[in-house]
Amino acid sequence: MKLDKDHILDSEEFEGEEKFEETLRPKRFSEYIGQNQVKDNLKITIEAAKKRKEPIDHALLYGPPGLGKTTLSSVIANEIGVSIKATSGPAIERAGDLASILTNLQENDILFIDEIHRLNTVVEEILYSAMEDFVLDIIIGKGPSARSVRLDLPKFTIIGATTRMGLLSSPLRDRFGLVHRLEFYEPEDIKKIINRSAKILKIKIDEKGSGEIAKRARKTPRIANRLLKRVRDFAEVKGRGEITEDIACQALEMLEVDELGLDNTDRVLLETIINKFKGGPVGLNTLAAATNEEIDTIEEVYEPYLIQMGFLERTPRGRKATSHAYDHLKIVKKDALKKQEKLL
Ligand SMILES: Nc1ncnc2c1ncn2[C@@H]1O[C@H](COP(=O)(O)OP(=O)(O)O)[C@@H](O)[C@H]1O
Ligand SMILES: [Mg+2]
Repeated sequence: MKLDKDHILDSEEFEGEEKFEETLRPKRFSEYIGQNQVKDNLKITIEAAKKRKEPIDHALLYGPPGLGKTTLSSVIANEIGVSIKATSGPAIERAGDLASILTNLQENDILFIDEIHRLNTVVEEILYSAMEDFVLDIIIGKGPSARSVRLDLPKFTIIGATTRMGLLSSPLRDRFGLVHRLEFYEPEDIKKIINRSAKILKIKIDEKGSGEIAKRARKTPRIANRLLKRVRDFAEVKGRGEITEDIACQALEMLEVDELGLDNTDRVLLETIINKFKGGPVGLNTLAAATNEEIDTIEEVYEPYLIQMGFLERTPRGRKATSHAYDHLKIVKKDALKKQEKLL
């Protein structure tokens, strides 16, 4: 479990966090804040499918961790009024695993496959005909007596979620009729999410308090909720239990989350590019080695927000720190370069 303050802004779910998240998870569109375009589109899709009494098309949701992909899939199921079974790419190891999941679905059910980019190719290929024609081709027996059997499946919907659209094979991507990208949230929406969560958790918080947490939550609901919880602890120990602007600021400073939501790892990443690689471009592998971070974590968790904030650029030759990054870290470019030249 990684609960150190260095990783408080890691938008991936911590172990043991599921229960906390479950209590806060919106169940209907009316509670699902923001992402209006995606919601509006889905509402029409769902209405139309209901009228035709058919399942909705297979849907692919993508975007950085913590933006609400898992939540949205269960909202969709609730709105249609069908049940949803959840699994994940790496969990479906063999063809048989997929066969048993699919043959247990009821008509119109939703199968949620998280991290769908991590399906293995054997399983993926069986999934193609299941998605397209609702049939399952399986091989029974071994050697010369092996034969292929075709099973009919109920009409169902797959909702796939991924943080890495680029890793999805194109045949798989093409089988999704609906593709929706979740965006980072507007500060007002993050604030609404914090206020909603505070109400559910019976936390006293004033407008400025939630505004302060919202500013630093990386435009990501999962992080907003996590920071809320940490600030509440601080308020109970150091204050009078109520979250005010002052309490929020103190708590977030202690957690080393800055005014723009950058944590230690973000700063180390940017400082490394600036101080060790003259501001870049530097290749991802080199950057990962120099900072002791995993390549995947940098790419999936840290980079999207740094790019969104305009601190980092992805170029064909590697990652570059922008002038915003120098400004934010209060590093003067000329000085940084001079220092490096002396070191060489
Ligand atoms: N639009 C939203 N409105 C309110 N809360 C949200 C919203 N999206 C996500 N959340 C909260 O953030 C948490 C993480 O969302 P989740 O769906 O697990 O993200 P993802 O699957 O994209 O990593 C959920 O527990 C939920 O409480
Ligand atoms: Mg998820």
